[in-house]
Amino acid sequence: MEQNQDRLKDIISHSKEYGFVFPSSEIYDGLAATYDYGQLGAELKNNIKTYWWKAMVQMHENIVGLDAAIFMHPTIWKASGHVDAFNDPLIDNKDSKKRYRADVLLEEHIEKIRQKIDKEIAKGVARFGDDFDQEQFRKTNPNVLRNQEKIDGIEIKMKGALENNDLDAVRDLIVELEIVCSVSGSKNWTDVKQFNLMFSTEMGSVAGDASTIYLRPETAQGIFVNFLNVQKSGRMKIPFGIAQIGKAFRNEIIARQFIFRMREFEQMEMQFFVRPGEEMKWYAYWKDLRIKWHKNLGLGDNLYRFHDHLKLAHYANAASDIEYNFPMGFKELEGIHSRTDFDLKQHELHSGKKLQFFDPEMNESYVPFVIETSVGLDRMFLAVLSSAYTNEILEDGSERVVLKIPAVLAPYKAAILPLIKKDGLPEKAREIMKDLQFDFNLQYDEKDSIGKRYRRQDAIGTPFSITIDHQTLEDNMVTVRDRDTMLQQRISVSEIGSMIEKKASWKTILSNL
Ligand code: GAP
Repeated sequence: MEQNQDRLKDIISHSKEYGFVFPSSEIYDGLAATYDYGQLGAELKNNIKTYWWKAMVQMHENIVGLDAAIFMHPTIWKASGHVDAFNDPLIDNKDSKKRYRADVLLEEHIEKIRQKIDKEIAKGVARFGDDFDQEQFRKTNPNVLRNQEKIDGIEIKMKGALENNDLDAVRDLIVELEIVCSVSGSKNWTDVKQFNLMFSTEMGSVAGDASTIYLRPETAQGIFVNFLNVQKSGRMKIPFGIAQIGKAFRNEIIARQFIFRMREFEQMEMQFFVRPGEEMKWYAYWKDLRIKWHKNLGLGDNLYRFHDHLKLAHYANAASDIEYNFPMGFKELEGIHSRTDFDLKQHELHSGKKLQFFDPEMNESYVPFVIETSVGLDRMFLAVLSSAYTNEILEDGSERVVLKIPAVLAPYKAAILPLIKKDGLPEKAREIMKDLQFDFNLQYDEKDSIGKRYRRQDAIGTPFSITIDHQTLEDNMVTVRDRDTMLQQRISVSEIGSMIEKKASWKTILSNL
């Protein structure tokens, strides 16, 4: 655990040192839980967006894009339930004055018990190796059974209390489990209170004319309220989807763990409109397709797992998270929700406009059901960065930090490196770069020894380093060094483009989906 926290710290400082992520407003000592993406972060982020957009929109005939405004009519948030129900239950420790999300305190307590079970299982694996039958062990080992029973008991009580909005029962459970504040170490808790997570502001400059509007807490509602606009203007037939990438804002109480939980973040969401009654088929379809999309990046299949929800949001009849093994452990990366016809019906009710589709095959009009896929762009960024960050000890005993970012997402696809700064090598290098830069983002670097330059490119995840030397002027061949294997080969200048293309093109990655 400690080691993983250190790993997260290393990733945060590496991100800052090389221009991926900076704390926001740093010269004014920063603004809590807000970050800026630097020159390389912006490139990586754009590449993740492109991977999502192309897979979603370009590769599906029946999915189209949208770019809705962040400001929307305030009644939208009344209709969606956010004004009344987008709350976190908060509790303060009276001694440290530290504020916690009550449900998170309970979840962390459950996780500690779960870790005891994992330890017990790890002991079994160490003792019996391949002969160890984990399933049987879980069913029979008294320590595992006792701890599992504890978890089940807490989950039932927690679910009941949260679903019934019984805040006294939530507090009673925290007290019963003797949960202590990590700062003061005391069990001196306040009552639990609900806190709305939406940011609000005033629109309009004339006093009295102003009305409260909200910064959207999800991009999805922009899609719902445009459902008919897109369906009619695009002549879309059910089933069809609308995809959108954009900012969302939540006044998170406990915003921490770097870019994992921020107050301003980006979502990549898609609402898939289907016939009522067919939603479970499409829910299964999208769960399958979305996990494939993630695994296709090659970060490691074992880093993902599904977490099917026990406690469903008021609008859902099924929901699952794709969790990723971040340095802080398995946490939500994407949500896949079967949202029924809740949102469209609510908007019909509050706007007084019909939001229905006439299905020519069924010869009837209906409010479609919706399957939603919603992935956090910043969390994708952290997933990519945390799997890529590698500290290697080389054969000669030296160390290198290398970002093994999937080539298609890497900020630069290749570095162009003249061996020395004279003898016509920089001119030749720039000539090669000029030809390639229409297709690829490249970095030119002529400063320091070639070894130092290789290390710099490793540290920012550039898949190829291309060295131009005196021999190049004679035979038009360059040395290409591979980031991951560090192997070098000589190829002709005319082959560079196709070599990069083969490893780093959109076609290469998308054709595996
Ligand atoms: N429209 C559905 C929706 O917004 P959600 O589970 O609340 O569902 C979807 O959010 C995704 O947005 C999450 O899986 C996560 O990746 C990302 N996300 C949510 N809150 C976030 C935050 N405070 N900071 C960064 N990403 C966040």
